[in-house]
Amino acid sequence: MATRVINLNVNDRACTVQADENTPLIYVLRQDDALKGTRFGCGASQCGSCHVLIDGVSLPSCDTPVWAAEGKAIVTVEGLAQGGKLHPLQQAFIDEQAAQCGYCLSGILISAAALLAEQAQPTEAQVRQALDKHLCRCGSHNRIVRAVLRAADVMHRQGAAA
Ligand code: FES
Ligand code: FES
Repeated sequence: MATRVINLNVNDRACTVQADENTPLIYVLRQDDALKGTRFGCGASQCGSCHVLIDGVSLPSCDTPVWAAEGKAIVTVEGLAQGGKLHPLQQAFIDEQAAQCGYCLSGILISAAALLAEQAQPTEAQVRQALDKHLCRCGSHNRIVRAVLRAADVMHRQGAAA
């Protein structure tokens, strides 16, 4: 056990936690009542529901010790919306009715955001590849892929209009 004060930056907010430095990041995040959106699924890096961005990379927070996220920019699903406005991905998921139970979606939105940051106009195959590690037990895969492509299109048009 190596309990110490750990400095984190979550959704552009600096915070400190006292924790065993090997505690999975998801446990530390979900201690904050405002950060319950990151979902615990398998706990073994197999389902994708717990993904968060760490310095822009979508990673399973169930399999990331909190020490590994120290000093890095962590973004959870709560950090996607900006200025009270939904991220285009969130709006597209609503528009395509991509959620059924929604349990998988926090992680999927995070990986989709990482994809669109790297590849503004992905092909359907690239979207499927980027989301391949995410399980959706409701079988919403096709709507989810459509939503990501819709968001990419909206973001591209917004960029062109800016
Ligand atoms: S809970 Fe982390 S990958 Fe399943
Ligand atoms: S919408 Fe239910 S698990 Fe994906």
